[in-house]
Amino acid sequence: VTPDNPPVAAPDAFLGLDIGGTKLAAGIARADGKVLAEARAPSRALEGPDSMIRRLVALGRDAVWDARLGTTDIAAIGIGCGGPLDPERGVVLDALNNPGWVDVPIVAMVEEALGRPTFLENDANAGALAEHRYGAGRGVDDMVYLTISTGIGAGVISGGRLLHGANGNAGELGHVSVDHRGRRCRCGGIGCLEAYASGTNIAERAGMPSAEDVVAAVRRGERHATAVWSETVELLGAAIASIVNAFNPRRVVLGGGVTRAGDVLFEPVRRIALQRAMPQLAAVVDILPAALGERTGILGAVAVAVDRRA
Ligand code: BGC
Repeated sequence: VTPDNPPVAAPDAFLGLDIGGTKLAAGIARADGKVLAEARAPSRALEGPDSMIRRLVALGRDAVWDARLGTTDIAAIGIGCGGPLDPERGVVLDALNNPGWVDVPIVAMVEEALGRPTFLENDANAGALAEHRYGAGRGVDDMVYLTISTGIGAGVISGGRLLHGANGNAGELGHVSVDHRGRRCRCGGIGCLEAYASGTNIAERAGMPSAEDVVAAVRRGERHATAVWSETVELLGAAIASIVNAFNPRRVVLGGGVTRAGDVLFEPVRRIALQRAMPQLAAVVDILPAALGERTGILGAVAVAVDRRA
């Protein structure tokens, strides 16, 4: 190595791509979680994978450009998407949040477009990695991240490691049943937590356009909205008690659009979850809001790229 031939720094910029039920996001971050650029666009429910992935790739290029980099400066790309999926083969099997996404080889498509090694993970598993590494789960070895958004998903960190399961789909806690004769879920199950407490289902049960409208009506003291909301927080509290009993976490981190409700959600959910969980397990758990806000998705995808590239 001479002064004219300095060592090239190992690339430390990662591209995170996140496919949500209502938005697409792309971000560039370093392995330490420092975000260099980010870009967002709405996702359209019935758009279909080809068009949506094309837009996602374009958003990724925008982020690379905004960070004043070229695609060759990107060490690896991570993608977070709703499941079920095959993280090994990089295929979305049947994303419940995006109708028509069946057997989509998204990793191959993104690699072909951007020319960098690409890795796929469940969005909520990725979110758990992000909150664990950069957010509300820092310093804690046992945590569960639950995202309450268009769907409900989760990621479980146990002994400092993300639980993957037999084929990479562990942590589908939106599909634990809270009523064995209850509402039919789009996953095919019956009485799933998601069928009651996801943003979409809260709105549907209250007969309102969005969960945000329901929360606003609860704040105004409207009867029907308040009844639907009380049942929702009770179901969430009961499900979180079961999650506490199953995994004995030190921390349960709640994120996703519905948690923007703030105290009207956290206060009753905490109370009910801690009342119902086994006392010895309830004694060691905190239930906290996610710390990364809108960035959970992109930082989760970045965390996946950092880990899987290694
Ligand atoms: C899916 C999960 C996903 C969650 C949030 C659920 O419907 O089953 O895989 O994590 O939505 O997007």
